[in-house]
Amino acid sequence: MPSMKRTHHCNQLRVEHIGQQVTLTGWVHSRRDLGGIIFVDVRDREGRTQVVFDPSQLPPDVFARAAALRSESVVSVTGLVRRRPPGTENPKLASGEVEVVAQELEVLNAAEVLPFPIDDPAETAKVSEELRLKYRYLDLRRPEMIRNLRVRHKAAAVTRAYMDEQGFIEIETPTLFKSTPEGAREFIVPSRLNPGLFYALPQSPQQFKQILMVAGIEKYFQLARCYRDEDLRADRQPEFTQIDIEMSFVTRDDIYALIEGLLQRIWKEVLGVDIPTPFPRLSFAEAMNRFGTDKPDRRFALELVDLTDTFRHSQFKVFSDAVAAGGVVKAINAKGFSSATQSQVEAMTEMAKAAGMKGLAYIKVEGGQWKSPIVKFFSDGEKATLASKLGIDEGDLILFAAGPWEPVCELLGRLRLYAAQALAQAGMLRIPADQYDFIWIEDFPLLSFDKENNRWYSSHHPFTAPLPEDIPLLRTEPKKVRGQHYDIVVNGIELGGGSIRIHQPELQKLIFEEILQIPPDETKLRFGYMLEAFKYGAPPHGGIALGFDRLVAILCGTQSIRDVIAFPKTAKGTCLMTDSPSTVSPRQLKELHIEVKAPKAGA
Ligand code: AMO
Ligand code: AMP
Repeated sequence: MPSMKRTHHCNQLRVEHIGQQVTLTGWVHSRRDLGGIIFVDVRDREGRTQVVFDPSQLPPDVFARAAALRSESVVSVTGLVRRRPPGTENPKLASGEVEVVAQELEVLNAAEVLPFPIDDPAETAKVSEELRLKYRYLDLRRPEMIRNLRVRHKAAAVTRAYMDEQGFIEIETPTLFKSTPEGAREFIVPSRLNPGLFYALPQSPQQFKQILMVAGIEKYFQLARCYRDEDLRADRQPEFTQIDIEMSFVTRDDIYALIEGLLQRIWKEVLGVDIPTPFPRLSFAEAMNRFGTDKPDRRFALELVDLTDTFRHSQFKVFSDAVAAGGVVKAINAKGFSSATQSQVEAMTEMAKAAGMKGLAYIKVEGGQWKSPIVKFFSDGEKATLASKLGIDEGDLILFAAGPWEPVCELLGRLRLYAAQALAQAGMLRIPADQYDFIWIEDFPLLSFDKENNRWYSSHHPFTAPLPEDIPLLRTEPKKVRGQHYDIVVNGIELGGGSIRIHQPELQKLIFEEILQIPPDETKLRFGYMLEAFKYGAPPHGGIALGFDRLVAILCGTQSIRDVIAFPKTAKGTCLMTDSPSTVSPRQLKELHIEVKAPKAGA
């Protein structure tokens, strides 16, 4: 125990404390020796204060301890607050007008030399993320990281308060769950007590929350931990958190209003920002047609323009043949991007090829001319229509795609993002970071076709209800059936998704067995308890889940959710600090009746 008890946090001292004796506890942030006097910035969770060790005013042993201080050692310092000499104030520190003249110093724990510097953000930025993850506790000492964790805490606290006010009950659901074949790959857990049997970690509490509706809870929520064994990216972790919600007797509009209120409240209380509600709504088809994605970033234009009718009878066969084959011709005008370099054009062409196109037709508008090998095939009428539909000016780059609707839209959606990022980097386009463009995307197709396995699968999950008017099409034209599914998108990021559910056991059984072609015995094995529960009075219900890590990352203005998770995994799913996953002892494996055939790690 420190003999001196903290009187203030390191961000608290102001001119009104001048003359007071105070005790600070914290870490040695930095140390400078100036003309025999030692200046130490002491840092705690809240901030920093400068402490002065003056040999002329200190017992020699205290000064000797100060002289030997190493960065990040833990100290307790007692001294007198005084005004900093004129010209030495530090406006960057909350306590920057004053300093503490040390009288006593206790080293509570000396730190060894750090594996990387944490007192200078520019220096820390040069350190590899691997090293920072290995020493995550040091990385977390940085004020930015502490701020991120605070924002996370605050967002969770606001969520709980809001949901409570709205009459929701937070209920914990099991994380030792059952394997279900739909959805992402899952993590499985062997059962020692039931040899040869496995639990699975839940990908989401989806089934439990629906069962809670059958149980009459009516309004459930949970800050739920979810597990998915997916390929990882900046916005995906193998374990992550959802704000998971389910309600009975509701329509889509009730869910929208609830979430709009929640997000409005979080933005206001965490960032002090007012976000307007209700959020605009866009159908999946319109989002694809205009932005080439189901998660459009609408903070900039560069919208897709449909040219199918323009080129239906064109001499340019690449386009007219695509239309004749039932496809579309679309283009974007990347305004000002005629400056695209050869390598940027090649990168975009590669994107077109990866999307199954033979190439990428484009027009560069330079020196008053349309520079392109394909313009010679266009009639005057086609050129005039292009000019007016695309608003073509000097300096523009027009990118075309011709082929089936979905790949064409998706390709142009990717090209739109690519061009926007390049233009933003070159300072030719402003994508405001402090603008939050929330939108609902709705009317998704209920089913998507998997060519490889020649079967339909659920676009969202198999519990999503079809639009009532589309139910008759289920058996005849499954492609046309729209689901009562909705996504909430902000600035091009999918923040969450949900749906109104199927609550009739017959319809659910039809979807599982006839549409998704899950054999009846497997349906019974995997979902039998759910179908059974639905026989005993399942209320109509619906819900949503917001990716909480993504939400906090947006609030913190960071691209990577790793920055808002205290102990995240790497892209390979490892924890570098604890060195997991790891091997287990032969005894453990034996108890679990498991034999490992994989080559030893690193072999
Ligand atoms: P869905 O699968 O769309 O829906 O997930 C909801 C939200 O969770 C976030 N998310 C992730 N965040 C980080 N890492 C991941 N690996 C990851 N995977 C998903 C996303 C996503 O929008 N049970 C349904 C919800 C419902 O229908 O109520 C579900 O889980 O932000
Ligand atoms: P080709 O007649 O195959 O030489 O193609 C003429 C031009 O059209 C070339 O610039 C190709 O890159 C481009 N192109 C080919 N296929 C497509 C497509 N599906 N969409 C857009 N442009 C294409």
